Amino acid sequence: MASEREQWASGAGFVLATIGSAVGLGNIWRFSYVAGESGGGSFLVIYLAAVVLVGLPIVIGEMAIGRRGRGDAVAGFGNRGPDARWRYAGWIGIIGCFFILSFYSVIAGWAIKYFVGAATGALWQHAGDGYGGYFQRFIGNAGEPVGWQLAALGLTMFIVAGGVRKGIEAANRILMPLLALTVVGLAVYVATLPGAADGWRFLFVPDWSKLAEGRVYVAAIGQAFFSLGIGMAVFITYSAYMDEKTRIPRSAVAIAAGDTMFAVVAGLAIFPAVFAFGMSPAAGPELAFITLPHICLKMPGGIFIGILFFGLLVAAAVTSMVSLLEVPVASVVHRTRLGRRAAVALLSTGVFVVGIPSALSFGTLADVTIAGLGILDAIDRVVSSYLLPFGGLLVCLYAGWHWREREALDATGLAGSGFAGRMWRILIRYVAPAMILLILLDTAGTF
Ligand code: TRP
Repeated sequence: MASEREQWASGAGFVLATIGSAVGLGNIWRFSYVAGESGGGSFLVIYLAAVVLVGLPIVIGEMAIGRRGRGDAVAGFGNRGPDARWRYAGWIGIIGCFFILSFYSVIAGWAIKYFVGAATGALWQHAGDGYGGYFQRFIGNAGEPVGWQLAALGLTMFIVAGGVRKGIEAANRILMPLLALTVVGLAVYVATLPGAADGWRFLFVPDWSKLAEGRVYVAAIGQAFFSLGIGMAVFITYSAYMDEKTRIPRSAVAIAAGDTMFAVVAGLAIFPAVFAFGMSPAAGPELAFITLPHICLKMPGGIFIGILFFGLLVAAAVTSMVSLLEVPVASVVHRTRLGRRAAVALLSTGVFVVGIPSALSFGTLADVTIAGLGILDAIDRVVSSYLLPFGGLLVCLYAGWHWREREALDATGLAGSGFAGRMWRILIRYVAPAMILLILLDTAGTF
């Protein structure tokens, strides 16, 4: 029983909310360590190509599917009677979001713990053995990570329970401008550190020999999927609340550009500091949690910088969690008699329970491994390497092949756009699916 249909207050509100979904731990925590491991500038070149050639056309496709369907993820794919099998594409998104949220909330919880620690000063008492030991003791602890995971979910529940306009849109209107200011401010400050130029060079000067490494392409395309948040019906769900006036291609370009700029500026806040203090940019997932607090203690005003940085991480994570929760919530609200609040409570409880093993995967459950990976890493890997590309592929097939040309151009708002429409068709029909297939095949061979 659908309640009265909800809508964004404005086109700008829609774009802000989708940028809020896209900008998250992926841009700060994941981008910086993946770029760090994959050679900086060369990674960035391939990443930009992946965003434009694969990411952007899929975002446009998802938005068109969502606005057409005017419901949840399933309605997006399922609104053409005889082809009810497409509905499963919607279910993949709903289930995918649920599982992403289950481990994403764990890492968001770490960020909250560090933010609170930075603000109260507790974090700064642990310089003794560096932050490696501190981080290991924290994530190895039985109860603590679960508690912080719950805090992250609590914030998310509060926002999503408020509804599309008063909850999601309002939160993004406040948090996104703050986030942009903070990250730019941090990047500018860090640029003044002696030795910062090495960080800029690392991020912008490609090491062309890396272009011969297949794994850099796989990492770049996977990162583009995760960072934009495509393939899991987020844009489908958010676009159902969009009005007919909002221009899809223009919104999609704004989102792809905003997300990418955010990642680059976050990189400029991190790498120059890493280089200025002689640390390794390839520290892996612990870059944000071990390397950075250490650097903060060394720089002038670093404690304040640390508070800002972890505050940034929390705000970015929460606006993304909101989108991940909204996808299943929208479905439950559409398909059952439950109201929004009940749906939020039910699903968050489920996410919390399913996420507990991830939260414990570095401590109590550290011995449990799947294909050599801990629980959190294994879920992340399955989602990022298989589920997201597969979901993206289905969007390509639906918007590019299932829809006839006329229908697709009308739904995207590209009808009469000439060149842009032709380009989009080529990308979504051939280029994006081909690249995704390559990635899926490669991953299947190496997992
Ligand atoms: N894009 C977010 C980030 O960069 C994470 C995210 C939100 C996401 N919604 C998603 C990832 C949907 C995959 C699918 O952190």
